[in-house]
Amino acid sequence: MPKNGKISNSVIRRLPRYYRFLGELQEEGITKISSGELSQRMKLTASQIRQDLNCFGGFGQQGYGYNVSELREEIGTIIGTNKRLSAILVGAGNLGKAVALHLNFENCGCKLVGVFDSNPDLFDAPLGDMKILSTSLLESFFKTNKPQIAILCIPKESAKELCDKLLSIGIHSFWNFSHYDLNPEYEDDDIIVENVHLGDSLLTLTYRTNNK
Ligand code: NAI
Repeated sequence: MPKNGKISNSVIRRLPRYYRFLGELQEEGITKISSGELSQRMKLTASQIRQDLNCFGGFGQQGYGYNVSELREEIGTIIGTNKRLSAILVGAGNLGKAVALHLNFENCGCKLVGVFDSNPDLFDAPLGDMKILSTSLLESFFKTNKPQIAILCIPKESAKELCDKLLSIGIHSFWNFSHYDLNPEYEDDDIIVENVHLGDSLLTLTYRTNNK
């Protein structure tokens, strides 16, 4: 757990990458790795890795390196993958269905507990092992299931109104695919927003390809 108080955003953003890389090492049957090898694989400097992990107390041993499964478990604990946060998804269109069906929620410390849409044609339609529910049921669903996270796969125009509704019923963490920029309007100590724009990543690739 944090050694020196608050952890910087850039360190927090690197943790999932450590977690994923260490999982891949485990799959390859690698049980220990030096900071040098880890840094080569991750394209980070060894000192960056040491600094990052030192924020949580440091894990390696001089001359031994890192025990892969122990380090992955520690990083998982720091992220909270063992806590199983409940998530709902709103907007069961093309994107919402793909996210609901193809993302490994368990690996990310979450469990998808409900999928909602405002289109009556979709109500009660099966999606994986769930049924799509009407957004009119959000409030009662919240009272029973207390989801902590909402995944927003709705059009931009619907995002603000929906977010206000979700906040009013008690959901404060948003994984926002809607292209409506909820930051900084929403982000404060209680409200957490992760905006996702796949297009930004493609634009970055486009720039880098055009400028190599
Ligand atoms: P879609 O039209 O297939 O699905 C949208 C769904 O949201 C529909 O089922 C609709 O009934 C529902 N919906 C609309 N307003 C709602 C509300 N207030 N409450 C509950 N449900 C509501 O669209 P698609 O392709 O799934 O995309 C969804 C959104 O995600 C689009 O706005 C698109 O621009 C965006 N998008 C974002 C990406 C990203 O990287 N952030 C990538 C791809 C799409």
